[in-house]
Amino acid sequence: MRIGGKTWVFLNSSRVVNDLMEKRSAIYSSRQYMPMASGILSGNNRVLLMPYGERWRMLRRIMHAILNKQNAPVFAPFQDVESKHLLYDFLHTPELWYSATQRFANSVIMSVVFGKRMELEDPKIRELFDTSNAIVEAIQPSANLVDSLTFLEYLPKPLQWWRPRGEAMFAKTVKVYQREVEDVERKMKDGTAKDCFATRFLKSPETKDYGRTQTLFALGSLMEAGSDTSRMTLSQVVAAAVLDKRWVDTAQQALDKVCGSNAERLPTFDDRKDLPYITAAVKEAFRWRPFAEIGVPHVLIQDDEYEGYKFPAGTLFTWNATAIALDPREYEQPERFWPERFLNADLDHVLRGHWSFGPGKSPGSAFDVVTYSVDTNFCRAQSMFGLQCRGVKCLDYGRSLVILFQLRGHSGEQIFSYKQHEG
Ligand code: HEM
Repeated sequence: MRIGGKTWVFLNSSRVVNDLMEKRSAIYSSRQYMPMASGILSGNNRVLLMPYGERWRMLRRIMHAILNKQNAPVFAPFQDVESKHLLYDFLHTPELWYSATQRFANSVIMSVVFGKRMELEDPKIRELFDTSNAIVEAIQPSANLVDSLTFLEYLPKPLQWWRPRGEAMFAKTVKVYQREVEDVERKMKDGTAKDCFATRFLKSPETKDYGRTQTLFALGSLMEAGSDTSRMTLSQVVAAAVLDKRWVDTAQQALDKVCGSNAERLPTFDDRKDLPYITAAVKEAFRWRPFAEIGVPHVLIQDDEYEGYKFPAGTLFTWNATAIALDPREYEQPERFWPERFLNADLDHVLRGHWSFGPGKSPGSAFDVVTYSVDTNFCRAQSMFGLQCRGVKCLDYGRSLVILFQLRGHSGEQIFSYKQHEG
């Protein structure tokens, strides 16, 4: 497909995503230069939008050294305490349930990256979500004409109508990141900083060569990439529970077996092995409504050929995540939220059976952190309250979502009933 001046290829089946973006990832994983998204909005510092090169390799290496599966235990205590906090928020301020899941997701990642927790309705969380929304919007095809017709960037600056908006968002982004980095640096100076990703990153000699703005973006984009993604998945689980009671009942029975039918205790990480149905439900949440609806574009860096098609270097490829997730040739009854489909030998391979983390593999997937976050919260909320669906429910696919749900105690009393419209 030609969009603006560029050729895009949308891959519509797992087979071809696997053949090209996975097996040939060495040539299918670079990023296009987008004057607005990677240039003005990111100052060429966002790892998600960086082309192959020494800087990209260095950043990926450091991220993986700290954010890998072996470090999963680093996340566990934060997830544990934050999910208890989430239950507390659900119980005491149910009308803020949506902000509560945002706080949860953000606080886990802030604890890991900056060694600090976040409060409910902290305006800083709102600002962070504004910056992440801006970049997610900017990478959609044709979001900014200059990113499709890149010659426009040679217009004299005063004629670049997109520039003032982009520069204002860049300044806001830097401010949001800088506040956190300066805070941790202050604590490092006075000896009160907790060991976290930022302290290790800031001490690493490798990171010095790329300057201050790169440091801000390396740390800032982690909190950005790790917050909205997990928050969104949690909301999808709530939406799925509202839409289909069948799987919720099965999940409840599984939880009752482990924690007692009167929620005698909270589920813990150690219960995970006894709750395969919950693990399957979380994988199903990743499949059912992938976070990156049409994937994230990658650039082919050398000419290639596949099944008779010839692709020149520079062609953009993306995995068409939603189309694949909802294709009946890929999944039986794809619209149905049906955890049973993942009760198979690959259950514990968080990446197998869906493309939610992308063929380039989000560093967030490496240590199962998100899976733990989502399933601990679901288990705990379900086991304590029981999510129940009532009344008319409607889910518009995409970013617009109407949720009507209730939490009930085990004796059936209503804890809260709420209708939320997000769009
Ligand atoms: C529900 C949770 C998450 C989902 C669905 C998700 C999804 C994605 C996707 C689709 C990509 C693009 C991959 C590609 O282009 O091939 C990505 C990239 C990225 N994610 Fe995640 N992610 C999640 C959680 C996290 C977390 C918790 C972190 C950090 C702690 C994180 C950090 C990153 C980073 C740094 C990148 C850019 C990597 C690169 O381009 O080299 N993500 N994520």
